[in-house]
Amino acid sequence: MRPLRVAIFASGTGSNARTLIEKAQTLRGALEISFVLSDKATAPVLKKAEELGVRTYLVEKKLDRQNHEQAILNILREHRIDWIFLAGYMRLLSGAFLRQFALWHGDASQVVNIHPSLLPAYPGAEAIARAYQDRVSHTGVTIHFVDEGMDTGKIIHQEALSLSPEASLADWKEMIHRLEHRMYSNFLESLSLGQQKTFYFEENQ
Ligand code: GRF
Repeated sequence: MRPLRVAIFASGTGSNARTLIEKAQTLRGALEISFVLSDKATAPVLKKAEELGVRTYLVEKKLDRQNHEQAILNILREHRIDWIFLAGYMRLLSGAFLRQFALWHGDASQVVNIHPSLLPAYPGAEAIARAYQDRVSHTGVTIHFVDEGMDTGKIIHQEALSLSPEASLADWKEMIHRLEHRMYSNFLESLSLGQQKTFYFEENQ
């Protein structure tokens, strides 16, 4: 059986991307991070990935959405990618994109995202800061399948955190990011162990 091939899409800092890359490197060839793709030339994630020896692609949205997504699909097909992990990718994927990607994998949805809240609470940007402003007694992290909406896809796994209202926003961010890193790398490992079924890229495409 060949290694599972995973692509990471990210637009920002890349702490989740780094954790996923480091985790994949411990999985002894069962799974590989084939590349990191960003839509932002200045995203620190690009440098992080390169330092860890992972190929990067920059696909900026210079044309319309359809052409932008087609350029990404071409790269995914070239690498025969099985799973896409979004990790702070600040762009919605269209239904057409997701359908095409699913068609290459027996119609299975194999695009996932991680989000720093207990969805459906606080979807979208600045989720941690908004929960902090509301002084919620607990929040958490969600891993979910990706659909066309903003953080609306089917939930795979959630974990809650109790947070002290006296803690600073920086403390909340640190705890939540630590939980994200653990959950996303465990999910990656579960793929490599076959605990989450993979439909491999169909080679006749
Ligand atoms: C994370 O909080 C993730 O949940 C959200 O975007 C953030 C990305 O952070 N989708 P990083 O770039 O991985 O550090």
